[in-house]
Amino acid sequence: MNLILLGAPGAGKGTQAEMLSQRLGIPSISTGNMLREAMKNHTPLGEKVRTCMDSGKLVSDELIMELISGRIAEPDCKNGFILDGVPRTLVQAEAMDAAGIPIDRVVSIEIDDAVIVGRMSGRRVCTKCGSSYHISANPPKTDGICDLCGGEVATRKDDEPETVLSRLGIYHETTEVLKDYYRKQGKLFLVEGDQPIEDANRDILRAIGETV
Ligand code: AP5
Ligand code: MG
Repeated sequence: MNLILLGAPGAGKGTQAEMLSQRLGIPSISTGNMLREAMKNHTPLGEKVRTCMDSGKLVSDELIMELISGRIAEPDCKNGFILDGVPRTLVQAEAMDAAGIPIDRVVSIEIDDAVIVGRMSGRRVCTKCGSSYHISANPPKTDGICDLCGGEVATRKDDEPETVLSRLGIYHETTEVLKDYYRKQGKLFLVEGDQPIEDANRDILRAIGETV
């Protein structure tokens, strides 16, 4: 199963990608997490994308394609993968098709902008593995500590309310068109994102043909 999760910032892509990864035994690949890791380690890539990332703008399609092609070629992806946050532009989707990266299904997590702005103020993210938490909807078992890796859980720099609004604008202008792109390929499934995490997960599993 090669799966793409689409959705606005804060729709729950990262949360669901991790749950699906555990259930299906295939890796979840988040370009956002990969770029944040590069920033944390001050690699040349991290320094190149820092200004874009902090202000919520998209990084270049070329950089993303390089990042994703390398990652998908790794052995742990041979039985499938879950893409979280990529593709994000028509150019990226077309480049993935041109590169022969097969995609089985695309799930778009649907949610109103107003709900997202409220959610983001409560989001906390593991600074080590990138797992998402929420202070009320999905808190870590131990305050400030990631359940999965024990890393420190903190706020994300691009979750300032103004940056969230700008990211939402970019999503509607640049990314949402991908729904039509994959609808035409017969691969698109829509799932309601404004419901409890477990319920959204059940709907996604159904959309990808898993028994629940
Ligand atoms: P990225 O890290 O991908 O951010 P994003 O798409 O903006 O999405 P988020 O990670 O903010 O939200 P999410 O949908 O994962 O939601 P989450 O599960 O955390 O990208 C960041 C930046 O990297 C971009 O701005 C860009 O600069 C760059 N970038 C990355 N990929 C790129 C690409 N392909 N091209 C160009 N640039 C790229 O959930 C949000 C919160 O809600 C959490 O607190 C969570 O606990 C909570 N929550 C989740 N589900 C529910 C629920 N059902 N009910 C209640 N709360 C919930
Ligand atoms: Mg995410």
